Amino acid sequence: MTYACPVDAIPTGEGRTVTVDGHRVALFRTAAGWYAIDRACPHAGGPLADGIAADCSVICPLHERRFALDTGAPIGHDGPGVRAHHVEVRDGRVYVAIGVPATEGVPAAA
Ligand code: FES
Repeated sequence: MTYACPVDAIPTGEGRTVTVDGHRVALFRTAAGWYAIDRACPHAGGPLADGIAADCSVICPLHERRFALDTGAPIGHDGPGVRAHHVEVRDGRVYVAIGVPATEGVPAAA
């Protein structure tokens, strides 16, 4: 696990791009929990951290492709998905494990 940012850096309902072990990751804090997926949309590189996150998914701000936050799987289209990464929250700090499959969101209150 690698430190990503303080919990307070991301308001609930928003995402931010953070760098973890040299990887650019879109980190989200939602009402359902914390999620991390690859930063770039596989369609044309859209910044997924700037997308609208709702219902455990994010909509790319460029062409509105949707991805599941917990798995990175595409939703409603046949294109490729993105990698989802494991997130942990401890003592007000958010940690991400690149390449470790995400399981489920960490409770937002953690
Ligand atoms: S770049 Fe994300 S949908 Fe086109």
